[in-house]
Amino acid sequence: MAGVRVAENDVFEVIGTQRAMRRLKPDPVPEEYIKKVLWAATRAPSGGNRQPWRFLVVRDAEKRKQLGEIYRSVWEEYAKAGYGTAARELSPEDAESNERVLRSAQYLADHMNEVPVLIVVCTFPSGSVNTGVAEGSSIYPAVQNLMLAARALGLGTALTTLHRMKQDEVREVLGIPETVETAALIPLGWPMGRFGAGRRQPVEDVTYWDHWGEKHRD
Ligand SMILES: Cc1cc2nc3c(=O)[nH]c(=O)nc-3n(C[C@H](O)[C@H](O)[C@H](O)COP(=O)(O)O)c2cc1C
Repeated sequence: MAGVRVAENDVFEVIGTQRAMRRLKPDPVPEEYIKKVLWAATRAPSGGNRQPWRFLVVRDAEKRKQLGEIYRSVWEEYAKAGYGTAARELSPEDAESNERVLRSAQYLADHMNEVPVLIVVCTFPSGSVNTGVAEGSSIYPAVQNLMLAARALGLGTALTTLHRMKQDEVREVLGIPETVETAALIPLGWPMGRFGAGRRQPVEDVTYWDHWGEKHRD
């Protein structure tokens, strides 16, 4: 059921059709819906249940403009570098998919200020012992919950992190203390296009059973 609100209990439909929606209408999002996605975010797990999060909901037009400018300036630097993919050899299929991502990411960079709601997901040190790859493990489950809840309501989102390259500027616009990290900048709005399955590897290609490298034998 692409493009329409699905039954809220149909979790697999929601998971299977949630993907980066970067083309969003400027139409306002009811506050009730914003609160609902934040409720979902705050149900997420976190180390020691410390819940080290704050959600900064930005609707003010001037602030969205400033955030959009920061995001776009970082995007322009990184787009030139191939958005992190230039170093890899891509198959023709991957190259085509990469092109699509780049076009849609360019659109978002050009229109971030027009998105009605920008949610800056903030986190702060909480005494967690997680380092390295696990460093964000107490904040990104909340981000995913937020995005899934948005999809259930028919709202589009995209997980973006490029703004972090100019995080101090973002802090200045929003009055965020230096001790607080901005884990994600999530545009939230009504999608122009349809929801649908993202391009993902089959489970059997990425799953081993009982031993590294051991694929399932039927
Ligand atoms: C850690 C992380 C950082 C990301 N940062 C950005 C970003 O800064 N800008 C952007 O447009 N998309 C960003 N994305 C979205 C990915 O490009 C997207 O999830 C991926 O291409 C899959 O897209 P799909 O869900 O539409 O299939 C990020 C995703 C993750 C998980």
